[in-house]
Parts: sequence; C-alpha cells; structure tokens
Amino acid sequence: SDAPVIAPSMLKCDFGNLHREVELLDAAQAPVLHWDVMDGHFVPNLSYGAMLIERVRPLTKSFFDAHLMISNPEKYVDDYIKAGCDSITVHIEALPEPQGLLDRLQEAGVLPGLAISPQTPLERIEPYLDACGLVLVMSVEPGFGGQSFIETSPERIRQLKSMISPETILSVDGGIDPDTIGAAAQAGANYFVVGSAIFNEPDYATAVSDLAQIARS
Ligand code: DX5
Ligand code: ZN
Repeated sequence: SDAPVIAPSMLKCDFGNLHREVELLDAAQAPVLHWDVMDGHFVPNLSYGAMLIERVRPLTKSFFDAHLMISNPEKYVDDYIKAGCDSITVHIEALPEPQGLLDRLQEAGVLPGLAISPQTPLERIEPYLDACGLVLVMSVEPGFGGQSFIETSPERIRQLKSMISPETILSVDGGIDPDTIGAAAQAGANYFVVGSAIFNEPDYATAVSDLAQIARS
C-alpha cells in the first residue's frame, strides 16, 4: 500500500516560535501541516483561524490540511480556501448534510474532507463518502490534544476502509503515538495526525520517521 503520511498537528506546536516550528517540521520531512481550528462552540476550546494559517502559508511548501472543528463551517470555508489550504475537513456533526459544501471545495480545487467523532454512527457519513478525498476518523473526542487513543477506533477505521474507494485518504486523529499507530495502520488508516508524540519529543525528525516506520511494518 501507499507510504503512510505523518501529519503534525499544529495545535501542539510552540506558538511563540511558529516560524521555527515550521522550519523544524520541514527538516523532519513531514509533508503536511494539520491545522486544528476550534471555535469554542462546536468544541469547548479555542485555537486559531484562517488569518493565522494565511500568514504561515508563504513559509513552507507543505500540504496544508485544515481540520475545522467549528459550527456553521459553510459560513467560514471560503476564508480557509483563500488562506491557501490544500485540504479542508468539516465535521458531519456540525453539518449533517455536507454534499453542497464538499462539492464547493472540489470545485475550488481543494481536497474535500469529512470528519466523524467517536460517538457518531458511521452511517451518518456513508452517503457522502464518494464526495470526499479524505475521511478523518477521530480517535479521541475533538477539542484537545494529549488525550488517549480510544481503543475501539481501529474497528471504526476497518469498517470505513471497506466503505471508501481505495484512493480516498483515510486519516486518524487523536492519541496517535508509537503504541497506537500500528493498530490504526493495520485497520486501514494511511494518514496519521500526530500532536503530542511529535511536539513532546526532543527531535521531530526522529519522532516522524519512527512513527512512519511503525505504520509501514
Ligand atoms: C483534537 C485534534 C487533534 C489533536 C492531536 O481535537 O483534532 O489533531 O490535537 O493531538 P494528539 O496527538 O496529542 O492527540
Ligand atoms: Zn485534528
């Protein structure tokens, strides 16, 4: 199968040294930056928005993957397109009928993504899977980094894997570390969002390559 992608979650980076963090991740050959956008409404936490992403965009060639944990994503999605995001993922719980938005992203040349929280039945996203370039399985409750991986997540990944086309990216997000990434990979995930297990490590390059190696094996 395809090489696993390790996508650092910028929620856990040092915001006081953002440019330096981006350079370190470039050096670590992490090809993606995952931007966790939280509005203090859809989730009980507030992070950053399109203005910040837009300012970082010129600093790197990395793929920008926006994960919108916000209510009414249809009102804000144009800001994230304009900010230069390559992929934009919205939550099915925030937008139960996302077909129009996914089509709009596709037309804008952005990879359309749909995320699903741990308690939500997979049937809720089933009608929209063909419109997705990326499907994101939350393996923690959205809102905070540093939580532990919910052990039933691989079963959800496995089920989703059987529902999507082979070229659709299957992403897993939350509690991914050297102890959990193997099970997620075996279940069919090929794209791994990682916060703590990169940013809490002294050497990002080693952390990224160790995780990729486990996911491959
Ligand atoms: C949680 C976010 C995740 C999270 C990942 O709502 O979507 O991206 O920050 O961080 P860790 O890897 O620490 O769980
Ligand atoms: Zn995320």
